[in-house]
Amino acid sequence: MQQVRAVVARAKGEPVTVETINVPDPVVGEAVVRIQSCGVCHTDLHYREGGINDEFPFLLGHEAAGVVESVGEGVTAIAPGDFVVLNWRAVCGECRACKRGDLQYCFATHNATQKMTLDDGTELSPALGIGAFAEKTLVAAGQCTKVDPSARPAAVGLLGCGVMAGIGAAINTGAVGRGKSIAVIGCGGVGVAAVAGAALAGASPIIAVDIDPKKLEAAKRLGATHLVDSSSVDPVEEIKRICAVTYDGAEGADVVVEAVGRPETWKQAFYARDLAGVLVLVGVPTPDMKVPDLPLIDVFGRGGALKSSWYGDCLPERDFPMLVDLYQQGRLDLDAFVTEEIGIDDVEAAFDRMHSGDVLRSVVVL
Ligand SMILES: NC(=O)c1ccc[n+]([C@@H]2O[C@H](COP(=O)([O-])OP(=O)(O)OC[C@H]3O[C@@H](n4cnc5c(N)ncnc54)[C@H](O)[C@@H]3O)[C@@H](O)[C@H]2O)c1
Ligand SMILES: [Zn+2]
Ligand SMILES: [Zn+2]
Repeated sequence: MQQVRAVVARAKGEPVTVETINVPDPVVGEAVVRIQSCGVCHTDLHYREGGINDEFPFLLGHEAAGVVESVGEGVTAIAPGDFVVLNWRAVCGECRACKRGDLQYCFATHNATQKMTLDDGTELSPALGIGAFAEKTLVAAGQCTKVDPSARPAAVGLLGCGVMAGIGAAINTGAVGRGKSIAVIGCGGVGVAAVAGAALAGASPIIAVDIDPKKLEAAKRLGATHLVDSSSVDPVEEIKRICAVTYDGAEGADVVVEAVGRPETWKQAFYARDLAGVLVLVGVPTPDMKVPDLPLIDVFGRGGALKSSWYGDCLPERDFPMLVDLYQQGRLDLDAFVTEEIGIDDVEAAFDRMHSGDVLRSVVVL
């Protein structure tokens, strides 16, 4: 066992604290990773607010890159010294979803079996089974995906959650590509990543929608062809208008990604689709949210598909190395997502800045 510094959320809505925690030595199937970088994702804030569950205290942080320090018995896929991006989809290979070939829906993804603890022995709940606002963390070996070791940790670590969720929402779940239009509602880290994914896949037009002009500028840098400020114009009408310019007769976008997680934006996404279009919900709603007044005939009549995207339907072993290579080749600008590098003591301040609109991602660098 060893002791390291880490960011803990002790109680609902309380500011996070930096504490000394105990990290057990890895046993069968586990690995200890020395963290180099970890992005601050909105989901960390959801945990602190009690919006995910009540299993406090949480060890926050889950968008991380680092170096494997030690591995437990039987671990052969990774070894000490490997540069890895941590993932929260270490598929089991044995559940019904895995057996029928839908590994991205695995019902029993692996996490470490041992618990990290506070100094007094209280067991911690690591965010998404990772907990990487910490000098070191304990995970299942399958949560470590080896990537090109010459890549910048602060940039590629973001593939561990939000950026992968966005890119995958567009490419994997929405299946955009050449000849298809896409609109992305909500251009934080996740939405802008969906824009970047759509650009990689060759979609056009790529319409970015947000209520904050600074976020729209970020979307433009990552490949948006049209910007819609929905605080001043009706985004549904505007998306329809833009798509009809490129594709004669189009009544909306082929794919609309909702990356806010609210009923009103979901409804905008629903009506901004062309007939038979796909709606991809990647924003995370709270349990009390409902979609009001949606005529069932509109669901039927417009056809298409209403999908949710968990983690961009990614398979880390397939998608992370590929996206890191595209980054290294200059085809995917992951650096553009890193607004600032901060210290482990600055996570609470980063939560505040999340609302300011200036930040795509604050990244803790250790
Ligand atoms: N499905 C997944 O696997 C997954 C993974 C990571 C994050 N998420 C979720 O994705 C969502 C976005 O995450 P993020 O880190 O990008 O958050 P963020 O706070 O950085 O971005 C949210 C964006 O939505 C914009 N916005 C707010 N209200 C709007 C409105 N009415 N219309 C248009 N835009 C609006 C904000 O200006 C902001 O740019 C969150 O709900 C997060 O929990 C989902
Ligand atoms: Zn499985
Ligand atoms: Zn996240």
